[in-house]
Amino acid sequence: MKKLYGVIGDPIAHSLSPAMHNAELKELNIDAYYHPFHIYEKDLRTAVEGMKVIGVDGFNITVPHKTAIIPFLDRVDPLAKAIGAVNTVVKEDGQFVGYNTDGAGFVESLKEVWKEDLTNEKTLIIGAGGAAKAIYYTLLSIGVRQVDICNRTIQKAEALIAAQPYDADSKVLTMEEAESSIGEYSLVIQTTSIGMDPDIDQSPLSLRNLNPSAFVSDIIYNPKETMLLKQAAEQGAKTQNGLGMLVYQGALAFEKWTNKKPDARRMKQTVTNFLG
Ligand code: ATR
Repeated sequence: MKKLYGVIGDPIAHSLSPAMHNAELKELNIDAYYHPFHIYEKDLRTAVEGMKVIGVDGFNITVPHKTAIIPFLDRVDPLAKAIGAVNTVVKEDGQFVGYNTDGAGFVESLKEVWKEDLTNEKTLIIGAGGAAKAIYYTLLSIGVRQVDICNRTIQKAEALIAAQPYDADSKVLTMEEAESSIGEYSLVIQTTSIGMDPDIDQSPLSLRNLNPSAFVSDIIYNPKETMLLKQAAEQGAKTQNGLGMLVYQGALAFEKWTNKKPDARRMKQTVTNFLG
């Protein structure tokens, strides 16, 4: 019987996931369909119960339900639990199990364009929201030794570090401190929403002290180049935008549902074509 996958969120109309997954399901001759479901917060519990009853085989969760869904699942993987957010649900023996592939998707995208072993990279994360948390805990979980965080609201960065279950030696920096010491970092990851509005050219901090051999990643993918990435490239640094993270979080979910490895480069091409 045809399998059914999907994504739930509010809003959902602009999600790129249906185009990305449906094209790849077709390429691999998998008899399945991926549908976007517009679910309001007040209907979340009913929606999850409904998904199970009608036989949905797995689904993604996007804004604003990634945390709120946790109590409605049968089980949650330990890393997703630590992050406090689920972006992928897999049906395992009739039970809905929650995972977080956002951080791992980020790591895979970095491995594709930069390097396999990240453990010795001195890393600075800019921002302390949900995306920062997923990336921070995932980097610690794969053994990256020093990951520091700077954020406008310093208490939020302190809270992320205090709650990490890995006993890592992380530091909190103000934006000003990060600007002056950014030259010490070999990997800089921008996770705030600054740069998302294509009409406002804004960067969370100046990169004038950046080490030109550093790698700078911005998880924003639209517009393609944020001001931060333009500045990084001007300094000679290698850069990537957030398209790779979007693709790989999806590729990892796809593999969990189908047990087939999708072609992530092809998925990236599908999304690039779709964005035009
Ligand atoms: P997400 O889940 O996408 O990470 P979030 O949890 O709302 O979103 O987090 C947004 C991040 O962007 C936070 O780090 C936030 O900084 P604060 O903790 O100080 O709010 C950051 N951010 C958003 N707008 C910002 C701005 N104008 N200047 C600096 N940081 C900003």
